[in-house]
Amino acid sequence: MPLKNTSLLDNMIGVGDMVLLEPLSEDSFLENLKNRFDHNEIYTYIGSVVISMNPYRSLPIYTPDKVEEYRNRNFYELSPHIYALADEAYRSLRDQDKDQCILITGESGAGKTEASKLVMSYVAAVCGKGQEVNKVKEQLLQSNPVLEAFGNAKTVRNDNSSRFGKYMDIEFDFKGDPLGGVISNYLLEKSRVVKQPRGERNFHIFYQLLSGASDDTLKKLKLHRDFSKYNYLSLDSAVVNGLDDAANFRTVRNAMQIVGFMEDEVQSVLELVAAVLKLGNIEFKPESRCNGTDESRIKDKNDLKEMCELLGIEQSVLERAFSYRTVEAKMEKVSTTLNVAQAYYARDALAKNLYSRLFSWLVTRINESIKVTKTRHKVMGVLDIYGFEIFEDNSFEQFIINYCNEKLQQIFIELTLREEQEEYVREGIEWTNIEYFNNAIICDLIENNQNGILAMLDEECLRPGTVTDETFLDKLNTVCAEHQHFESRLSKNSKFLTDHSLPHSCFRIQHYAGKVLYRVEGFVDKNNDLLYRDLSQAMYKANHSLIKQLFPEGNPAKVNLKRPPTAGFQFRASVGTLMRNLQTKNPNYIRCIKPNDKKASHIFTESLVRHQVRYLGLMENVRVRRAGYAFRQAYEPCLERYKMLCKRTWPHWRGPAREGVEVLMADLQVPAEEFSYGRSKIFIRNPRTLFFLEERRRQCLQDLATLIQKIYRGWKCRSQFLLLKKSQIVVAAWYRRYAQQKKYQRIKSATTVVQSYTRGWQVRREYRKFFRANAGKKIYDFTIQRIMQKYFLGLKSTMPSMSPIDKNWPARPYLFLDGVHTELRRIFHLWRCKKYRSQFTEEKKAVYEEKLEASEIFKDKKALYPSSVSQPFKGDYLEISKNPKYQKLSSAMDEKVLLADVVNKINRANGKGTARIFLLTKKSVVLADQKTGQVKASVPLPDLTSVSVSTQSDGFFALKLKEGSASAVKGDFLLSSEHLIEIITKLHRIGATAADREQLNIDISDEFLVQFKQDKVCVKFIQGAPKNGNSVSCKRKNNRLLEVSVPTTA
Ligand SMILES: Nc1ncnc2c1ncn2[C@@H]1O[C@H](COP(=O)(O)OP(=O)(O)OP(=O)(O)O)[C@@H](O)[C@H]1O
Ligand SMILES: [Mg+2]
Repeated sequence: MPLKNTSLLDNMIGVGDMVLLEPLSEDSFLENLKNRFDHNEIYTYIGSVVISMNPYRSLPIYTPDKVEEYRNRNFYELSPHIYALADEAYRSLRDQDKDQCILITGESGAGKTEASKLVMSYVAAVCGKGQEVNKVKEQLLQSNPVLEAFGNAKTVRNDNSSRFGKYMDIEFDFKGDPLGGVISNYLLEKSRVVKQPRGERNFHIFYQLLSGASDDTLKKLKLHRDFSKYNYLSLDSAVVNGLDDAANFRTVRNAMQIVGFMEDEVQSVLELVAAVLKLGNIEFKPESRCNGTDESRIKDKNDLKEMCELLGIEQSVLERAFSYRTVEAKMEKVSTTLNVAQAYYARDALAKNLYSRLFSWLVTRINESIKVTKTRHKVMGVLDIYGFEIFEDNSFEQFIINYCNEKLQQIFIELTLREEQEEYVREGIEWTNIEYFNNAIICDLIENNQNGILAMLDEECLRPGTVTDETFLDKLNTVCAEHQHFESRLSKNSKFLTDHSLPHSCFRIQHYAGKVLYRVEGFVDKNNDLLYRDLSQAMYKANHSLIKQLFPEGNPAKVNLKRPPTAGFQFRASVGTLMRNLQTKNPNYIRCIKPNDKKASHIFTESLVRHQVRYLGLMENVRVRRAGYAFRQAYEPCLERYKMLCKRTWPHWRGPAREGVEVLMADLQVPAEEFSYGRSKIFIRNPRTLFFLEERRRQCLQDLATLIQKIYRGWKCRSQFLLLKKSQIVVAAWYRRYAQQKKYQRIKSATTVVQSYTRGWQVRREYRKFFRANAGKKIYDFTIQRIMQKYFLGLKSTMPSMSPIDKNWPARPYLFLDGVHTELRRIFHLWRCKKYRSQFTEEKKAVYEEKLEASEIFKDKKALYPSSVSQPFKGDYLEISKNPKYQKLSSAMDEKVLLADVVNKINRANGKGTARIFLLTKKSVVLADQKTGQVKASVPLPDLTSVSVSTQSDGFFALKLKEGSASAVKGDFLLSSEHLIEIITKLHRIGATAADREQLNIDISDEFLVQFKQDKVCVKFIQGAPKNGNSVSCKRKNNRLLEVSVPTTA
């Protein structure tokens, strides 16, 4: 954690420790306090004593951050704070096993209770944590609001004035975790229950209950919200500014729950509070009796009734207890009636007792909750007792309170001033005693067993005969007259005889904190603290468990005739016990100062503070602290703190601490008169010297800090560098590896490339001879072979059918196969034709030969030809050998008839046709009559020179004869046949095979000459529209022309 500028010695406002005040005077002391107060520095030290000024407003100096700041820090390290004291106390308790007590003193309203709570909350914050520990802490802290509600009240000095003394022991285990605690309470100012001075209030709980309880609760408690309904609640200051009674009531209820009160216990407590209020409303009236005395009667029994209902008391019993008083003496019981005044006295006594016993019960109950069950280790006591009080009207309570404060001052003197001086003696330091006011003498005036005021009061109370406050004062006047701190008008000390500020019924004590005038009225009564037995017995009879517990003396079985100890006696005894207790512990002082009487912030009433500074003996405190030596420190911590100022002690001093300190001081050349060596401590005379040391230390720390910083920075940079270097090596190694890998891979692949090229080159060189000559061709051949193979195999599956007329042929796959493809097609076609042909018989073959010849002669020359292709060349259409009709004719033929058909012989004269049988043999052509079969003409084939036909689809043909032959006499023949193509073909064949003559000419044209006897007639074929059907007509146009009209074959 960085050192903040809050060090005691750094940047402080005024002087943080009065011991260091220079020059020291009361004025400078006050000036310093004021200066610091004005700057919100409410805490100032005198050595280890903390002076706390009440700021009367909340300051931001109690935050958790502050707690952390002061936690585990040395007392003088930071600016003064109550936390520093709490921390110091807690740590020496935890670490050095020293029981501690925190003594908080100061007058009413100076801030003691607040200080005690701050100490407790600090300790709670810094000690251990955990479920169990936290519960204990909560219970300890929450006991405060409960006790404050029942034990605090608004007074003219303080709106939250503690009207009881409280000492709380917080018990810790060896780890410093709180285990629990014990609370002791001292004398509650119970007179407040029945009567409050002007401008003051009763205890907070009454107002809190009436303001904060629910309507339902109030109804159960038979209460009204209105304060004015209750006699015990003074009206003039029932509402206090800044106090929210209703909210506080909730806080108290909550706190009671946390502390561990059961619901029915809380209810009982509230019932008792209600009962007290009811009790105050019971009023009495006098009733004269025949014997002349006045007896008291209850005016209105309603409140009594309600109260009895609340507490479960039989009304008549209580009523009787308010009317009679039974005195028992030596087996005798005497009952006397009470007058009105006595009845009121009895009522108030009951109310006070009821309330104060309830308060004590609350403390006991809380103690039960916070009781330590484990073995405790160390104890921290926090004492928050009512402050020193001077009122206008001071009574027994103030006397007791101030006595208590007197005792605390005593213990302070004992432990600080005397202790301080004794320390010098103990440490063997030369010392001249410093005068300080020791209030032991005042304590003695009050508590001396023989002639102390309390002893006198007890004596009076116990004395037979009439005892009044006046007789008590008389007694004081005689016994204490000589005492220098006792003043009374009627004392034998004549100097007060004329002191008019001193009324007759009063005595005055010069307390350490000022003179206080006490009015004796009520001293005896309050000391006696009498509660008539009838009342306690009535209470005991109550059907209410709590009430019964509170009045054990009311148990008739345990009648104790002995007088109970007086209030004064009890108090003295408990204060004695407390003091003895405190003396066994290590004291830590918080001296609270009230800056003004107005409960206002920012006001510093100098006279008021000066007065407190005086009576608290703060100046003496400083003086004694400084007389010889302003500052002391044990050798070890001193050496530890300043050892860096000397080379020989820094960084380690091996010898005893004292010698180390001596070496240090010598080295620093501190003048010898500035310090003394005690047995265990070094004593520094002047604050200046301490400042000098501190300043040197600060510089040195700065240098050291720089050095540390330098070394640290160096170290940091170096380690950073080394780390970087190390990392760099790793990175470099990895990188190199990676780079090498890459390079290697590159080289490897390059090598492979080079290698492959080389090998390729070698192999190529070796195989070049093979490759150069044939490789290309081989590959080419192979490829071509492959392609051909594929082509042929493909052809196999795509071959067209074997029909010669099938025109299909697969598509050519490659251009270069064009020729082959076409050739193959041709070959295939020829082959399939051959195949086709090879199936033929001889006749069929002859037929086809004839057909072929016909085709050779006529194809594309004569229009008739195509129609003849499908006609079979039958040859003998007339079945001449079989038909008897032609038997004669047939027998006349010496050759085999190759063709027999009926033809039309065109008449030369008119062109009309006459039917004739046409026979063809190897040797001749024969024309015979169709009917008779008589041969009309027979022409030997050698006489036949040519045959003429037209180009058209007609069946006309002219047989031309050799001129001069015997057959030519009658002229040429113009014939027409349906089988023209067959006739002509056969004629041509015969001519081709005959060796004896020339080839027969076949003339195909649409105009030819025919030799009719002598005349040559031209036969002309024309195309014309058919006149009579579809037949060809032939007409003799003139002598020289015969016209044949052939219908157009579309
Ligand atoms: N440190 C503080 N910070 C803020 N206000 C404070 C502080 N100390 C005291 N006060 C204020 O002063 C009032 C009186 O303080 P406190 O009740 O502690 O006085 P006291 O010394 O206990 O008086 P008494 O002797 O009458 O009980 C508190 O109610 C609170 O308002
Ligand atoms: Mg208080």
